[in-house]
Amino acid sequence: MKVSVIGTGYVGLVTGTCLAETGNNVLCVDIDKKKVDKMKKGVVPIYEPHLDVLFQRNIKAKRLNFSTSLKEGVEHGDIIFLALPTPEDGDGSADLSYVLGCASDIGKLLKCYKVIVDKSTVPVGTAERVCEVISSHTDVEFDVVSNPEFLREGFAVDDFLKPERIVIGSSSQKAIELMEKLYKPFVRSGNPIIIMDEKSAELTKYAANSFLATKITFMNEIANFCEKVGADVDKVRAGMGTDSRIGKRFLFPGIGYGGSCFPKDVKALYKSGKDLGYEFDILNAVIKVNDIQKKILIPRIETYFNNDIKGKTFAIWGLAFKPETDDIREAPALYIIEALLSKGANVQVFDPEAMPNVKLKFGNQILYALNKDEATVNADALIICTEWSLFRTPDFDKLKTSLNQPVIFDGRNLYDIKEMQQEGFYYSSIGRET
Ligand code: UGA
Repeated sequence: MKVSVIGTGYVGLVTGTCLAETGNNVLCVDIDKKKVDKMKKGVVPIYEPHLDVLFQRNIKAKRLNFSTSLKEGVEHGDIIFLALPTPEDGDGSADLSYVLGCASDIGKLLKCYKVIVDKSTVPVGTAERVCEVISSHTDVEFDVVSNPEFLREGFAVDDFLKPERIVIGSSSQKAIELMEKLYKPFVRSGNPIIIMDEKSAELTKYAANSFLATKITFMNEIANFCEKVGADVDKVRAGMGTDSRIGKRFLFPGIGYGGSCFPKDVKALYKSGKDLGYEFDILNAVIKVNDIQKKILIPRIETYFNNDIKGKTFAIWGLAFKPETDDIREAPALYIIEALLSKGANVQVFDPEAMPNVKLKFGNQILYALNKDEATVNADALIICTEWSLFRTPDFDKLKTSLNQPVIFDGRNLYDIKEMQQEGFYYSSIGRET
């Protein structure tokens, strides 16, 4: 099939590449000429495991092409995916200007029947609005489909190629059949393609992300309470998670959820409710608790250093909002760095992938180490913000000689408490005894 993908951000790029992998002829369109030129030369503009191989292979096979021309994109694809940003606007709602602006341009360029697919996370009713905007410019037949994406950064290729489910929101049989044909190779294992109306599909995405964010936040509160009563959250998690109604996944407490999706989507769903006079009390609490959780290590650090961290040096391991990505959007590490700097502390950081992005934000206010060991040299404490595998089994003896004092604040519960005591560390983690 011929497919166009408008927008080569994280979702668009993975979608385009994986659709090319199953033999479709894909044209990816982006207004950023520099990025398009790079991609034409085979350079993947983001860090995502396994994407590189698929990207090169499909460019070589001429199934994956790039352009800056929306006109070419509209002419090329029988199915046109909109994978455009929906950033948070000032009041927490999703900003639809990219999606609706593009819909308007598509309306002016349409010459024959096309299926326009909303892949971006968009508020309920957007498919209807996209449809109205396109219709206002053309009489040509078209359909608008809502097809939310559930892939995770760091596992995006695997999630796209082997999805647990595909959600298609459409009221047009013609569009549904085309979409089913496109996705059939991805659900050979028997996972379902769930067909529904556009609004339900749009809400499914927000409900799924908000539920997961709530699950994590609930566990963060249980962890905080564990500390009050002397319980161990690892044991509580194991005891709870084995109940199949609860499930083992997404029960790991830490220093809050981040990324480009959960924070934005929870706020957007809350705001959509408010706009319609519905108060999502639970989401309001999730937002509030997560904001506090991101900075939960700061008072602990201050207490340990008798409220005097001015001039102290802190090593930070992990800057990305989670492992296997260079994405630092809403990453807890950023809040911790800001808080430490504002209190006059020095910060030396290391992350396997996210350093260039952090450099853009903090410039020379902090020190960028070449590796994890260098970051800890002469630091008064180590703070762990992201659970990269690289940080899981450090040489503790080396760490002790490198740090000024054997102190670790672990926001991701990487180490065994007993082992840390035996090693002679002061070790503070989340929801477990210090
Ligand atoms: C999330 C969803 O998991 C995807 O299904 C969805 O497609 C995507 O958003 C999106 O809307 O595009 P992602 O943001 O890549 O994916 O990351 P997750 O793996 O879900 O992690 C989100 C945050 O939750 C991270 O900061 C992570 O550290 C945190 N988390 C996750 C926890 O604190 N505890 C857990 O047990 C799991």
